[in-house]
Amino acid sequence: MKIGVTGATGMLGRIVIEKLKERIPQEEIIALVRSPQKASDLQVEVRRFDYNQPESQTASLLSIDRLLLISGNEIGQRAQQHANVINAAKQAGVKWIVYTSLLHADSSTLSLAEEHRKTEAFLKASGIQYTLLRNGWYTENYTGSIKGAIASGAFLGSAGNGKIASASRADFAEAAAIVLANEKHQGNTYELAGDQAYTLTELAAEISHQTGRPIPYKDLPEEEYANILKSIGLPEGLASAIAGWDVSASKGDLFDNRGQLSKLIGRPTTSLAQSVANTIAEE
Ligand SMILES: NC(=O)c1ccc[n+]([C@@H]2O[C@H](COP(=O)([O-])OP(=O)(O)OC[C@H]3O[C@@H](n4cnc5c(N)ncnc54)[C@H](OP(=O)(O)O)[C@@H]3O)[C@@H](O)[C@H]2O)c1
Repeated sequence: MKIGVTGATGMLGRIVIEKLKERIPQEEIIALVRSPQKASDLQVEVRRFDYNQPESQTASLLSIDRLLLISGNEIGQRAQQHANVINAAKQAGVKWIVYTSLLHADSSTLSLAEEHRKTEAFLKASGIQYTLLRNGWYTENYTGSIKGAIASGAFLGSAGNGKIASASRADFAEAAAIVLANEKHQGNTYELAGDQAYTLTELAAEISHQTGRPIPYKDLPEEEYANILKSIGLPEGLASAIAGWDVSASKGDLFDNRGQLSKLIGRPTTSLAQSVANTIAEE
């Protein structure tokens, strides 16, 4: 039995490989990566694999039974890229694809949702056995702004009082490894989110508490927040997208209270306080 993992040199993929090694023999794991030189430390078989090169994908997928398709990070290209991978997997005889989708992909207003909806539909139509891991927000998406918030004296966003049930990247990676290692998960769709839901006001209060400095949350209109992100160097498209994702968060798109992630991993998801503490310790 062989398990292939795409995007294995990415932040999520690296943790999935580690967590898989705890569950299955290392010889059964294959890292599918576009830059093999970045994968030399993974200590599993490595094969070259680029989402944009369908002509070479089938050969790289031969002998793989189970495939984790980690969604790509080139927003706008991904529906085609993922379709390429699913087509190649079918040709190569892959029996089961586990796909990292988006929380409530079928109804989410997040701009990212459309590519995930298209991929889910393509996967369902492929006839290959599948599992959907509809991942909610990584807590790291927000903790990445803590340093800037401490420097500027406020945590900025446009998420209003939206509740965000995020979990750490490691929590989602562990869930993926657990699913891949056991075929009882075939055919399931998991809505994966953290046990604890918080508003950005509560996140700012946690940062204030842990640093001993007042860091209030400042809620901004979408355009104003996007302009600030642009002014600190983010590309225009990304700045607008991030502000838009916050607006979706304000509508509840990042909230879920089913507890499916903690059930899968058999422990509570990483708390907000822990994630904030980890980030502050890195400073
Ligand atoms: N749930 C969330 O909050 C959240 C947040 C951010 C991203 N995501 C999604 O989850 C995915 C994994 O997250 P992450 O943190 O691991 O992101 P990441 O570190 O950016 O990893 C993305 C991976 O995709 C690979 N990749 C990109 N384009 C590719 C291509 N054309 N062919 C082959 N591989 C390609 C990258 O390869 P290289 O290593 O060679 O660059 C990398 O390994 C992201 O790609 C994105 O779809 C989710």
